[in-house]
Amino acid sequence: MFIRTKTALRLAIGAALASAVAFTAAQAQDTVKIGLIVPMTGGQASTGKQLDNAVKLYMQQHGDTVAGKKIEVILKDDAALPDNTKRLAQELIVNDKVNIIAGFGVTPAALAAAPLATQAKVPEVVMVAGTSIITEKSPYIVRTSFTLPQSAAIMGDWAAKNGIKKVATLTSDYAPGNDALKFFKDHFTAGGGQIVEEVKTPLANPDFAPFLQRMKDAKPDAIFIFVPAGQGGNLMKQYAERGLDKSGIKVIGTGDVMDDDLLNGMGDAVLGAVTAHNYSAAHPSQMNKDFVAAYKKAYNARPGFVAVFGYDGMHLIYEALKKTGGKADGDSLIAAMKGMSWESPRGPISIDPETRDIVQNIYMRKVEKKDGELWNVEFETFKDVKDPGKAKK
Ligand code: PHB
Repeated sequence: MFIRTKTALRLAIGAALASAVAFTAAQAQDTVKIGLIVPMTGGQASTGKQLDNAVKLYMQQHGDTVAGKKIEVILKDDAALPDNTKRLAQELIVNDKVNIIAGFGVTPAALAAAPLATQAKVPEVVMVAGTSIITEKSPYIVRTSFTLPQSAAIMGDWAAKNGIKKVATLTSDYAPGNDALKFFKDHFTAGGGQIVEEVKTPLANPDFAPFLQRMKDAKPDAIFIFVPAGQGGNLMKQYAERGLDKSGIKVIGTGDVMDDDLLNGMGDAVLGAVTAHNYSAAHPSQMNKDFVAAYKKAYNARPGFVAVFGYDGMHLIYEALKKTGGKADGDSLIAAMKGMSWESPRGPISIDPETRDIVQNIYMRKVEKKDGELWNVEFETFKDVKDPGKAKK
């Protein structure tokens, strides 16, 4: 009798455990979890804010269920410090069992997570970081942002062809800045241009004033600038304070410095600045007009390119899940993402099936004032630009 009871008890406990496990598995299968790792604090906090805003906006517009799966976003702040990124990615993968990691406001953060994506076979959707090499660091990385060579090479060609002979460069001293510098320089000098001064500014808490003085002293026709999203406002304020806007030196660069998010705060000192970039809030498509209006309504702010990168990152995830019929393992999702193409607020974009990197238009733009506001007005389009950083290898 006693033996029987014990056996029955054991069986009952076993069944309870089994059903608990089954219940968890069923729940897990019904939910697709995205670990969104972004800088919400520190010098790059505006990047985190824009990404978070854009992800929420996409989900408001498209719902939180796709292919029968509930989408759950778990937001983590890495303050753009790669040690934090790595620890958070590990926790998200091991403890929260996320299906996808996404975000990554700076290159070192995207690189820190890459080995974990590979080991766990979890897709890493890079929504901001722009160094060419990133997608080569894991077969599970897909990028919806950009690469700096895409815009810097085009800017170099344009400057050489448009009467600019001498350039001083100011670039942020880390990997994407070095990509931007190399590709600008190669293309500008191949077209006959000359670099008369090169300065590199620190990524963390930069004081641009002494660097700007060196730019001014070099007496170039133009200064070429790359700083990451979020830093352009402060840089251009110091630029005006030093009187560079009255020096006759033109401002050119990748579009990061003229971030639409900050542009109106820069004031008239930036009128006439010419940059090459993938997104302008003034892009004249209906889709972009709707996007800018919806973002403004939700957050009382103008979206910058980072917001578009996040919005497109969510689109990629949603569409990949539709294509797999809700299967959320890494290999199925990556296979679905390769070659995908769609219309973004920035124009037509696609994921190169070979490199998992983004292919997009690059626009030449000039800062103009319209109805009392500053805009990056597009005046020339280079279509379907692949990353020249990879083509060169
Ligand atoms: C980067 O760290 O790769 C990065 C971040 C923001 C940008 C560009 C590049 O605007």
